[in-house]
Amino acid sequence: MGMNIESIRREFLKDVGEATSLPVLYEVKAKYLGRKGILTNLFKELKNLSVEERRERGRVLNDLKEWMEERIRKREGEILEAEALKKELEGKVDLTLPGRRVRIGNIHPLNRVLREIIEIFSSMGFSLEEGPEIELDYYNFEALNIPKDHPARDMHDTFYITDNALLRTHTSPVQIRAMRKRKPPLRVISAGKVYRRDSDPTHSPMFHQVEGLLVDEDVKLADLKGVLSEFANRIFGGKRRVRFRPSYFPFTEPSLEVDVECVRCGGKGCQVCKGTGWLEILGAGMVHPEVFKAVGYDSGKYVGFAFGLGVERIAMLKYGIDDLRLFFDNDLRFLRQF
Ligand code: FA5
Repeated sequence: MGMNIESIRREFLKDVGEATSLPVLYEVKAKYLGRKGILTNLFKELKNLSVEERRERGRVLNDLKEWMEERIRKREGEILEAEALKKELEGKVDLTLPGRRVRIGNIHPLNRVLREIIEIFSSMGFSLEEGPEIELDYYNFEALNIPKDHPARDMHDTFYITDNALLRTHTSPVQIRAMRKRKPPLRVISAGKVYRRDSDPTHSPMFHQVEGLLVDEDVKLADLKGVLSEFANRIFGGKRRVRFRPSYFPFTEPSLEVDVECVRCGGKGCQVCKGTGWLEILGAGMVHPEVFKAVGYDSGKYVGFAFGLGVERIAMLKYGIDDLRLFFDNDLRFLRQF
């Protein structure tokens, strides 16, 4: 009974698959369906069969024929499409050119530094606390021992929204929120944007601070110095000189500031450090009893220290950048260096 239907089908599929041009495809068509084609010959053999066998065999052959015609039509469409595409691209595209590299973005230098700062304090047991950027006067000033007529308000160049609401000028209001929420002992940091009417190479109107607060029994100024020295060593890899300097904040007593040798001049004095040789990175001190009073902590029992550091300043010192406004210009030539 001639060739087995299954093997014909398989060979046909292989032939059709290998046909990548119309002339070749039409040869395949003739091989199976032409006047002397394989399938045509099978049809011719039908007359040797009994009526019943003929009916059965005829149906199988007809199905096969339809299926083959359908396959050939489909392949014809594919070949035509591929040829059209090839023609369209001809002369326009050089297929031998190497592909274009996809550039993957990187993390903004400020975020990198911010993450690193958080990581360092986390490893010392501080946990992250959040507070709003639009803040009440009470949290930003009053509760921090800065009443309405206090001269220290002038240090902040505040953006007011209403008499009572403002863009927070520092992250210290988060201290108040944290203490109102929890009982001591407490060890928290808070990171985020703060706003001041300020703009020069070391000041921008929006910048980032990281606040730290530790409250416990028996905490000393030496503990604060220890934590800040450890932080400075880790963030600058021991590569920059650091100094502690007495200072003043209404919400800490005593207060201090930490300076790091200038990025630009390395301590000789220049425009960036205003001739001092140093850049201030943070303010800190022992929590003022008035602040504990505002949050209902017993200042006879508890002592605490707090600090607030400028993330941009630290990024400047870490990467040797002498104008922090570069962080906000979004110039890719600058950003791609990190
Ligand atoms: C404060 O904001 C205090 N809240 C810090 C503090 C917290 C003191 C807790 C005591 C206890 P000061 O205004 O100095 O302090 O700002 C802190 C740091 O923010 C500065 O040392 C500086 O590194 C950075 N900084 C201040 N103003 C700007 C600015 N305009 N642009 C960029 N960084 C700034």
